Amino acid sequence: MRVLLLIPGRFTLLTLAVSSCANLGCAGGAADATGTAAEDPLCVDAVPVTWDNFGHGFLAMHCHACHAAGTIDRLGAPEDATFDTVEQAWDWRDEILTVATGDSPTEPPSGGVSDIDRMHLYWWLGCGTPGT
Ligand code: HEC
Repeated sequence: MRVLLLIPGRFTLLTLAVSSCANLGCAGGAADATGTAAEDPLCVDAVPVTWDNFGHGFLAMHCHACHAAGTIDRLGAPEDATFDTVEQAWDWRDEILTVATGDSPTEPPSGGVSDIDRMHLYWWLGCGTPGT
């Protein structure tokens, strides 16, 4: 029963990720996010996403291979683009949203991030409480 209830939810989230990005451009929304998250249409249905419940694990899995201080070979990733801590992640908020969300994300270079994970990334850094 619980599984059946979750399936429509996943479809809703995926639809949101695709259609909202197509209409508004996730990256554009982020770059212009000078207003509050409450005014951002992509944040309306956002679930609470934080460093602890998503961000840290996401960055470790998809980004730290090239963007951690302890990375042996950064494969060309800029020295200062290091996302080891929640503070660093928020310092790089605008850049991360620009390159890793939106219609044509360029990071990670080899792809492999699902739409739903990119939506969670946006809900975290685009809609979440700064510093969390
Ligand atoms: C395989 C290595 C690799 C992985 C994994 C990777 N990146 Fe990168 N990243 C790079 C390289 C190389 C550049 C420099 C690209 C350029 O200059 O065009 C870069 C640049 C960036 C920049 C721009 C930095 C600036 O100076 O503006 C950001 C932000 C970024 N990456 C975020 C991410 C995020 C977020 C992830 C995970 C979702 C990720 N990267 C995963 C290699 C990687």
